[in-house]
Amino acid sequence: MLIPQTYIDRCTQLKKQLNSGVILLLGNEESPMNYADNGYHFRQDSSFLYFFGMDYPSLAAWIDVDTGEEILFGDNLTMDMIVWMGTQPSLEERAEKYGIHTVQPLARLPEYISNAGQTGRTIHFLPPYRPENKIKLFNLLGIHPDQCAERASLDLVKAVIAQRQIKSEEEIKEIEKAVDISADMHMAAIRMARPGMTEAEIAAKVNEVALAANGNISFPIIATINGQTLHNHYHGNIIREGDLFLLDAGAETNLHYAGDISSTFPVSSRFTERQKEIYTITLNAHEAAISALKPGVPFKEAHMTACRTIFDGLKELGLTKGNTDEAVAAGAHTLFFPCGTGHMLGLDVHDMEDLGELWVGYDGVPKSTEFGFKSLRLAKPLQPGFVVTIEPGIYFIPELIDMWKAKGKHTGFLNYEKIEAYRNFGGIRNEEDLLITDSGSRVLGKPIPKKISEVEELRQ
Ligand code: GLY
Repeated sequence: MLIPQTYIDRCTQLKKQLNSGVILLLGNEESPMNYADNGYHFRQDSSFLYFFGMDYPSLAAWIDVDTGEEILFGDNLTMDMIVWMGTQPSLEERAEKYGIHTVQPLARLPEYISNAGQTGRTIHFLPPYRPENKIKLFNLLGIHPDQCAERASLDLVKAVIAQRQIKSEEEIKEIEKAVDISADMHMAAIRMARPGMTEAEIAAKVNEVALAANGNISFPIIATINGQTLHNHYHGNIIREGDLFLLDAGAETNLHYAGDISSTFPVSSRFTERQKEIYTITLNAHEAAISALKPGVPFKEAHMTACRTIFDGLKELGLTKGNTDEAVAAGAHTLFFPCGTGHMLGLDVHDMEDLGELWVGYDGVPKSTEFGFKSLRLAKPLQPGFVVTIEPGIYFIPELIDMWKAKGKHTGFLNYEKIEAYRNFGGIRNEEDLLITDSGSRVLGKPIPKKISEVEELRQ
């Protein structure tokens, strides 16, 4: 846990942001894999963790904005549970550690809700993403699961985002720890990969590093020779000389802060000349996007900078043509870069994505629905204390190339004949995590090799 005062201060701040009413924060439940007693690894809800720190299932928190009262709802373990799981501190003991002085059994929550309802008080809740919590809201508030998201409190969503998006020193330290472990995961993979291994062997090593650091992975590992598939979780291929290996993997610390790094390296000891050319363009786009990061600048600017750099680089190779600004405005670059340049990072790998991209990434400004641009998760002006990822990439997706070519899309900007020669190239992405500072940005954590010579040195 962070220091108890942190949680107390966060709740005080939250109450100040809302005018009145009651905040109901639901923790997560255990989630069964295939039968009730065989659960997935428990993961607490991140907003619950942020305000209450308590990393246990079946809890709910009640914050009375008008009186300032905070109540933790939950049940102590039964003897059957102690027999199954071992001795545990009581809920009262646990709550006290986080500065919460009132604990009530879960069975009393409906009574509190009903009293608040009778006096016409607003009950603020966040949009639920787990079915169990949708059912709880249905039972407690009578809101149909399909309507929970739209009936969630926008005031609460905005207040939580306003707090969670600015990372404190304490949080930055923890995120940096996650990034350091993530870097170790990548170094292990870059060092061990040899032709003839399976992707799964490398993914297993990467997972091992995260677990050995007493945490977990922050999202399912992407370890693939088919890097053109953006979120490829298939690990069944044998890796061979000449392949490019794309690893996108991050650690989550035991306090649940996330790291998120991507690297791309040759399965052979060296990149081919063609791989070097495309790799250099992605690296240039990466550096260009980083140099655009500073307070007040919309993240979309960093994205557009990366898009232009990619288009220009591919123009030098003859794959694209025409005016870069016009091509990027028209979306011609999305054939190679159909996603966004980055996202927020914190207690979630896509921080606060459960609260909705409209407010987390766009401050309420509707985002583009166009292919490529619609996948940009973050566009709003940056502030000191934001932690973001930078991860532009170049992807040759055969199905997309075929579709665009058949439709004659952007023929003024794309040289399909030349592109054809790259259809089986795969994909390249490098990714780092950055803190927005008062004057620009700082890369978090241990550096991992990105330059071609540095990567090749590790592959000897
Ligand atoms: N790096 C994984 C993701 O952003 O989803």
